[in-house]
Amino acid sequence: MSNQPIGVFDSGVGGLSILSEIHKILPLETTIFLADQAYVPYGRKSKKELLMRVKKVMDFFNKKEVKAVVMACNTATVYTVDEMRKYYTFPIIGTVPVIKVIARMTRTGKTAVFSTPATANSPYLTDLIAKFAPDIVVEKIGGSNLEELVENGDLNNPAIFERLKFHLIPLLNDGVDTIALGCTHYPFLKEKIQRIVGRKVKIVDSGSAVGRRLKEVLTNENLLASQKENDLYYTTGEKEKFDRVASELTKRTISGEHIDL
Ligand code: DGL
Repeated sequence: MSNQPIGVFDSGVGGLSILSEIHKILPLETTIFLADQAYVPYGRKSKKELLMRVKKVMDFFNKKEVKAVVMACNTATVYTVDEMRKYYTFPIIGTVPVIKVIARMTRTGKTAVFSTPATANSPYLTDLIAKFAPDIVVEKIGGSNLEELVENGDLNNPAIFERLKFHLIPLLNDGVDTIALGCTHYPFLKEKIQRIVGRKVKIVDSGSAVGRRLKEVLTNENLLASQKENDLYYTTGEKEKFDRVASELTKRTISGEHIDL
């Protein structure tokens, strides 16, 4: 048993889509969420920059004496998780596109991963596809600046719909019937994506898989909590903007604190 908190981070508010699944699956756990908004978007940083930045974030959590960290960010995971696991003794749970799930779900044998350009171009994703979906088509689509539009909280901005159409219509023409959302900002766009691709195309995100994996790790390590305390929220960006957008996206009142890292 351990009532120490769990650190959860993303470049921005996208990670809240993972956090809400963690809260659903593990209601007694206390979380510390960090949005590294001073450095968003991670999807257009080099591996070197990401390693430096994520190390700072992990050090912050280490000082907070967390019992585990969830990288609620695909980009951070595919470029830094292997390295970070060498530095810290607590478990680190990553977020990656659910390749095994889409391989199992597809009927046409044609699927896609919709992620940041960095994740789409990563060797890590190529390896995941080779390992878990060797016999089907997996198109890798890097979204153009969509995370920035989500960061502004303006989900009704017509630019979002136009950009989504630009990326998704070609997939329909290719016969894709299952899409994995490989960026944690995108679950907030799921309804719009579904409207464009139609009900027959299945869209899956990583939230529940990450929540279940976290539960499994905490159980195996005997680290499950017996009592919840207050969840905390931090941003390296502007507090007012974080509070407004985080509250709008989650439909709860969230109040964070600014920190410099
Ligand atoms: N939410 C992040 C992910 O899952 C990345 C967004 C960004 O580019 O900062 O990859």
